[in-house]
Amino acid sequence: MNKNKAAVAGKSRDGFTSSFGVLAATLGSAVGLGNIWKFPYLTGTNGGAGFLIVYVLATLVVGLPVMIAEIMLGRKAKADAFTTLKTLAPAGQPWWVISVMGVAAAFLIMAFYSEVAAWVFAYVFKAMGSSIVTHDPKVTSAAFGQLISDPLQSLLWQWLVLALIAGILLMGVAKGIEAVAKKLMPLLFLLLLVVGARSLMLPGASAGVGFLFHPDFSKISAGVVLTAVGLAFFKLSIGMGTMMTYGSYFRDDQNIPATTLRVMCADLFVSMLAGLAIFPAVFAFGFEPAAGPSLLFITIPAVFASMPLGHLFMVVFFFLTAISAVGAMLSLLEVPVSVISGRFHMSRVKATILTLLLLLVVGSGCALSNSSMAGFKVFGMTLFDLFDFCTSNVLLPLGGILLCIFTGWVWGLDRTRLALSNQGALNNQGLCRLLVFLLRYVSPLLILVVMLKGLKVF
Ligand code: PFF
Repeated sequence: MNKNKAAVAGKSRDGFTSSFGVLAATLGSAVGLGNIWKFPYLTGTNGGAGFLIVYVLATLVVGLPVMIAEIMLGRKAKADAFTTLKTLAPAGQPWWVISVMGVAAAFLIMAFYSEVAAWVFAYVFKAMGSSIVTHDPKVTSAAFGQLISDPLQSLLWQWLVLALIAGILLMGVAKGIEAVAKKLMPLLFLLLLVVGARSLMLPGASAGVGFLFHPDFSKISAGVVLTAVGLAFFKLSIGMGTMMTYGSYFRDDQNIPATTLRVMCADLFVSMLAGLAIFPAVFAFGFEPAAGPSLLFITIPAVFASMPLGHLFMVVFFFLTAISAVGAMLSLLEVPVSVISGRFHMSRVKATILTLLLLLVVGSGCALSNSSMAGFKVFGMTLFDLFDFCTSNVLLPLGGILLCIFTGWVWGLDRTRLALSNQGALNNQGLCRLLVFLLRYVSPLLILVVMLKGLKVF
């Protein structure tokens, strides 16, 4: 039996060992800086509640079907994303191109994501001192500015983060990814609840709640909708083979639609909690909601500064945010590592080291985007902004469209039914029909129109 066939047969493959482990690891990929850093700052810069509504709709209509499809295909083939698409597609059809785009997306996302994670790690230590425990927006902004404009600090923290991720990946799927996620996810939920509650109790917090929940539809433009769709993809880690790779570690008796729905709801819940931790404080202390990527780093210290034992809570908060970033980065790196080791018959150790070395190069460009390379711009964007824009607004939606077409039209209803019902053990025929309908007609067209309109193609 050749390697691919062995992979398809699922022999001696590392994988998730329990239902809770599957849930925690998948959630560990979805929940991350996307919830705590990206969602709040995009909501802030795109007008608040209106953006939130579009984002939730995008998650339901586009995100959920694509996520179910990816996990289903991954579990079927039990292989890396490239091999999965190659084995499941009819001979000669190059659907594997989705995984090539996915590997590119993984590198580009990791390049800027690991830098934001680097800031979070640095903040764990900054929070231990007292320099950032203040309500004064000028002081928190200056502290953040000083960190990101120092090339040496930016690089060192990023390299530290990358080394940590590589170390965990080397431990494997069950002992590395699953074990870390299982322990730390519940803790993150708990702490976000505490911080959210405190932020809501601040005098003047209601303006922030209004910003998050009272929509102003005049603020919704094509660009805003594209950003929301991009965020839905980024949040659920879809459109690039990540969920396909994780799907390959799913157990055969796992109920895929139910697990996916749970992950999606929990992920939305974490974003909501992060929004409730941040926006009431933004308005209570007179910060700027449209501050952009620095929002988390200048408002959260102020929330903690206003609560008893805030100092301690802030250390724990940034620590947990760092951990959530680790879960997401593990899944991001898992895509190139599994494709490289699968395709080139390289050991996992070698593939991880190779990926890491490549990332050190690509990532440094992002780490230096606020200092030595601030003047280096492509289409008017620094590398950090460019990579962020291209992945969320182009690569992930494009991967999503292709995945919809592949699952809806090539893979088809019958195989979807069989795969999602666990060979008939589950009774979910109606759901499968709805899913295939969405994947065939609704999701790809919607993404395409939004993408072209958002990019101002028409
Ligand atoms: N979903 C992660 C987050 O929201 O932080 C980011 C992410 C992880 C994106 C894995 C893409 C991916 F493949």
